[in-house]
Amino acid sequence: MISSLRGMNDILSDEYKRFTYFIEVATEIAKRYGFHFIETPLLEETALFKRSVGESSDIVGKEMYQFIDKGENDVCLRPEGTAGVVRAFIQKKLDRAGGIHRFFYHGAMFRYERPQKGRLRQFHQFGVESFGEASVYEDANMIMMVGDILKALGIGYRLKLNSLGDNNCMPAYRENLVYFVNKYKDSVCEDCTRRLYTNPIRVLDCKNEKCQDIYKDAPKLINCLCSSCNNDFDILKKILADNNIAYEIDTNLVRGLDYYSKTAFEFVSDNIGSQSAIAGGGRYDRLVEFLDGKATPAVGFAIGIERLMELIVMPTETRIGYYIGALEDEALNLVVKVAHKKRESDVVTIDYKSKNLKNHLKAADKVNAKYCAVIGSNEMQNETIWLKNLEDKTEQVLLLKEF
Ligand code: HAM
Repeated sequence: MISSLRGMNDILSDEYKRFTYFIEVATEIAKRYGFHFIETPLLEETALFKRSVGESSDIVGKEMYQFIDKGENDVCLRPEGTAGVVRAFIQKKLDRAGGIHRFFYHGAMFRYERPQKGRLRQFHQFGVESFGEASVYEDANMIMMVGDILKALGIGYRLKLNSLGDNNCMPAYRENLVYFVNKYKDSVCEDCTRRLYTNPIRVLDCKNEKCQDIYKDAPKLINCLCSSCNNDFDILKKILADNNIAYEIDTNLVRGLDYYSKTAFEFVSDNIGSQSAIAGGGRYDRLVEFLDGKATPAVGFAIGIERLMELIVMPTETRIGYYIGALEDEALNLVVKVAHKKRESDVVTIDYKSKNLKNHLKAADKVNAKYCAVIGSNEMQNETIWLKNLEDKTEQVLLLKEF
């Protein structure tokens, strides 16, 4: 038997209901915030992710589904959504058009990680990207939007917040940090030694306990922000407080992708085990220019849908549509014809096997239909249909032309 690949799951039945409910709720809220749908390809040039997510990141360094296609192109299944949206934004010359452009998307992402609970090789994100708005109010908007989505789904969370500074303050901080870590060069792990040369601030979110012990005394970026970053961070904290959104400052929150500057945030859940990050995002003001577009401020986030699945509080299911069945084989053709017409406006399930009324009622209940309708020889003769409302249990016989 051929099974699905490790870390790649099927989504069906009850899970599919949760999945589509999540997409519906998140889409509705993203639209309320003025975002528009964007779809980008699953496959992109590898160079796009190397340049945006960054060569020093684990994602690019270890986790890409990268291959050479039949045309000798070096391509890669997208490990995240931001890079593709930025590429599309530039390719469609929206960077030159000016103004604010807000997009949302959802779809499969691929990372060759070691699979475990909450960590898949193919997973799904719902993300948004906002271009052209430099105000920190937009950062707050992003955080409030994630908060609204999680609230609508009945999901509790903790919000972690940090600022990664900008071109003014980050380089000096980086130097400070490198100076500090160099003092412990022989004690930190191999990954941190490598990060010291590729992207030093990534040492701060090293999972090695010994390293974390050392970094407790490392200089904190939050204490080294320039006045503009500091000011924005203060405003952000005030907006969140004014809107009753609780947050924790996490000075080690540096995010696993290299494109961020200023605001960085992560939503975590304490109810799903070690892979606790349910959403992450932040500002990435340098990325559009870095990918050869016109410099454009940008901010966004992505929610990991699989990590939320078991936390979603589903609304109580209401019965919908019709179940239509035949009492005798001769009525089947008419059932199909009536169902075809009814489907112009309603959800209709048909049973292709004739059976008695009791069994049809059972089957209608199973598919959660609101009405069970049946046609037998009597009904055929009289051009009628027998109908039961499975909610209020009323029964009636209708003329087919009135059904
Ligand atoms: P990220 O933090 O890498 O950010 O991913 C966002 C979310 O995707 C995570 O918080 C997590 O819930 C989920 N996720 C990540 N990896 C896996 C995995 N292997 N299995 C299951 N779920 C996973 C980004 O991808 C950025 N593009 C977010 C962003 C948008 N920043 C700005 N705009």
